[in-house]
Amino acid sequence: MSYENILVETRGRVGLITLNRPKALNALNDVLVDEVGAALDAFESNDDIGAIVITGSEKAFAAGADIGAMATFSYMDAYLSDYITRNWERVKTCRKPIIAAVAGYALGGGCEMAMACDIIIAADTAKFGQPEIKLGILPGAGGTQRLPRAVSKAKAMDMCLTARMMDAIEAERAGLVSRVVPADKLLDEALTAAETIAGFSLPVVMMIKESVNRAYESGLSEGLLFERRVFHSAFALEDQKEGMAAFVEKRAADFKHR
Ligand code: HXC
Repeated sequence: MSYENILVETRGRVGLITLNRPKALNALNDVLVDEVGAALDAFESNDDIGAIVITGSEKAFAAGADIGAMATFSYMDAYLSDYITRNWERVKTCRKPIIAAVAGYALGGGCEMAMACDIIIAADTAKFGQPEIKLGILPGAGGTQRLPRAVSKAKAMDMCLTARMMDAIEAERAGLVSRVVPADKLLDEALTAAETIAGFSLPVVMMIKESVNRAYESGLSEGLLFERRVFHSAFALEDQKEGMAAFVEKRAADFKHR
């Protein structure tokens, strides 16, 4: 399949999606977001892929939704087209883990897309923000919901209400990103992390993703119960037998279901 606004390639067992509208700092439009959805569909159904990385350019992961494309929208235009957000949950519903490798601006919908991924690895140049308020709108794809869960209510309010940006160090301190790396090492670091994940048992990887996500969707008792049920089911996997036998025999595990 050919894409207009993204580049899609595989690196070993990792699927790599590069947002590619450089002249508009990767501003997100329906076509781009639909293409990300189609690329995720293809990677999800490809048995040779165990993890996915989404990245942008040195200057911008994505500077938000395409402002020009929505500037004259009526309520009906936005509602009927479900602009940008219509394929948004595809990033969340992908069962294979997705790492956002963020350099430069991740603003508005760009920050929201990164937050919908499972791990954010940031270059030291990364800047996160929800500046929608300056445009007379509010975040529309998780900014007011995922950000407070990631960084606390106080910081989320600060970012959404003042439109100030958070640099990579602050974002790591606040818990929004998992690691900060030098910009020239960003892609290598993200691909290495993804390759590590892709080397483990895929059903276990998917169980972990599902269980961690439960922490956001349920209370603690229910989440712990979900985790325990899934944990017990892992003993039905050949890969559990292999992983534990390999430990006992002091050798590397050779998982069958990667
Ligand atoms: C359309 C955009 C854009 C955007 C940048 N560009 N952001 N086009 N939509 N969100 C375009 C500019 O118009 C310009 O095109 C080119 O990219 C380079 O941008 P500059 O502004 O010249 O670069 P710079 O001075 O370095 O400033 C970078 C910037 C600034 C700070 C990121 O571009 C900016 O503030 N962008 C808007 C950020 C924003 O408000 N994002 C939230 C959008 S609303 P030309 O043709 O002039 O060279 C949103 C809602 C999501 O995301 C709702 C749910 C999905």
